[in-house]
Amino acid sequence: MKVSVSILSSSIKPQEIVKKLDNTKADFIHVDIMDGKFVENKTWTFSEIKKITDYSNLPLDVHLMVKDPKKYVEDYALLNTVYLTFHYEAVEDINDMIEYIKNYGLKVGIAINPNTDVSVLFPYLKYIDLIIVMSVFPGASGQPFIETTPERINMLKEEIFKQNVKTIISVDGGINNETGLLCKDAGVDMLVSASYIHRDIQNNINILKEL
Ligand code: DX5
Ligand code: ZN
Repeated sequence: MKVSVSILSSSIKPQEIVKKLDNTKADFIHVDIMDGKFVENKTWTFSEIKKITDYSNLPLDVHLMVKDPKKYVEDYALLNTVYLTFHYEAVEDINDMIEYIKNYGLKVGIAINPNTDVSVLFPYLKYIDLIIVMSVFPGASGQPFIETTPERINMLKEEIFKQNVKTIISVDGGINNETGLLCKDAGVDMLVSASYIHRDIQNNINILKEL
């Protein structure tokens, strides 16, 4: 199982966390960017993220919870970014946004809110690398896992199989050993976690990795 560690809302300084992550089995640093418009909260600026992530060699999985994702692509292409993910709900011209990100040499992800029908993504599966299925409403860490998530993951997984494409599925929000297992059984490829992992970084990453 791939594990992407969100650095959102930990009591430890983010640069201390990312330093530690290099000595764990974490696959990615999950960078949550909020603009105070698409969601109420605001997180770091690009220069803050650059300073924080300079402390680690891990690749980045950047989750843009922003109204105008195009504005962020050029900056994040300068970092160790592998996946750049925008929200389906934020963008009008999805194909144009996919192309725009690809032109910077990045892998493209689309995140989908808990109340958006997953079938809206079916026409784009062959053009994207990652889907982030939101298992909470975006905006904050520490929220409870929404129980309809595994069936949403399963619907996407079946369609990916049907279309014979390589898109991977990630899940974000309220993930721990139990909810992570439910998502694994539904076909998820990657787990994103903040609060559960920060309780005991080394140990809980190992638990999620081995699910
Ligand atoms: C929520 C963010 C998540 C969040 C996950 O809007 O996108 O990445 O940090 O936090 P936990 O694992 O605590 O739900
Ligand atoms: Zn996230």
